[in-house]
Amino acid sequence: MIECVNVKKDFSTDKNVQHVLKGIDLTIEQGDFITIMGKSGSGKTSFLNCISLLTDVTEGQILVDGRSIDTKNRKEIEQIRQDYIGLVFQNSNLIPCLSPIENLIIAIHENLSYAKKKSRAMEMLERVGLTSKHNHKTPTLSGGEMQRVAIARALINNPKMILCDEPTGALDAATGKSIMDFLLEVSTSYNSALVIVTHDHSIGSLGKRQYLMNEGLLNEI
Ligand SMILES: Nc1ncnc2c1ncn2[C@@H]1O[C@H](COP(=O)(O)OP(=O)(O)OP(=O)(O)O)[C@@H](O)[C@H]1O
Ligand SMILES: [Mg+2]
Repeated sequence: MIECVNVKKDFSTDKNVQHVLKGIDLTIEQGDFITIMGKSGSGKTSFLNCISLLTDVTEGQILVDGRSIDTKNRKEIEQIRQDYIGLVFQNSNLIPCLSPIENLIIAIHENLSYAKKKSRAMEMLERVGLTSKHNHKTPTLSGGEMQRVAIARALINNPKMILCDEPTGALDAATGKSIMDFLLEVSTSYNSALVIVTHDHSIGSLGKRQYLMNEGLLNEI
């Protein structure tokens, strides 16, 4: 489905170039469950940004269903992102002036009536246990609640690949477990791929394939 071939990513300033990803090969298929662990600063988030097509790679290729995205223009890439990718950011990245339900509604790509969008959004909020807070002010939610809204938002378009950057970082152990169970249940029921970056060994060890990011290189463990 999504294939990375020798993916490299540099960040340049006036003075120097930092080689953050140094040649990553990874193939992600439908139904995969991949966990990525690794030290802070090793390049995990940078890698997720590349495979979610949010940033261009410096060298190497990303192929979607066998076709390189190099051949596509920005609009086509945006369409692929909409069809394929649900991303949960390391910080939840919700829009603070919108309520939880509104954050979900504006993320729905399908051309539906407002009422239909609202009922789909309510359904997702129910699945993450936040029905009662759907209309609260987003900044008043706890870190874990915001993360749950962010997960609901990432899943609202039934993406083929769910990418999560430390989805349980801000959660207590019990809530973290219920969120993990939820992610696994959803990815299994839609046969989507699930890629999770985590510092938590108990989550890292759940992956069907487990990787360690080490100074810009990804090694299977
Ligand atoms: N937009 C950017 N511009 C410049 N440098 C960046 C940028 N994004 C990331 N970096 C650098 O790339 C390196 C890897 O960052 P990245 O966020 O990928 O690490 P990480 O493995 O996700 O770490 P953490 O576990 O702390 O989240 C860091 O040294 C960071 O400063
Ligand atoms: Mg990170």
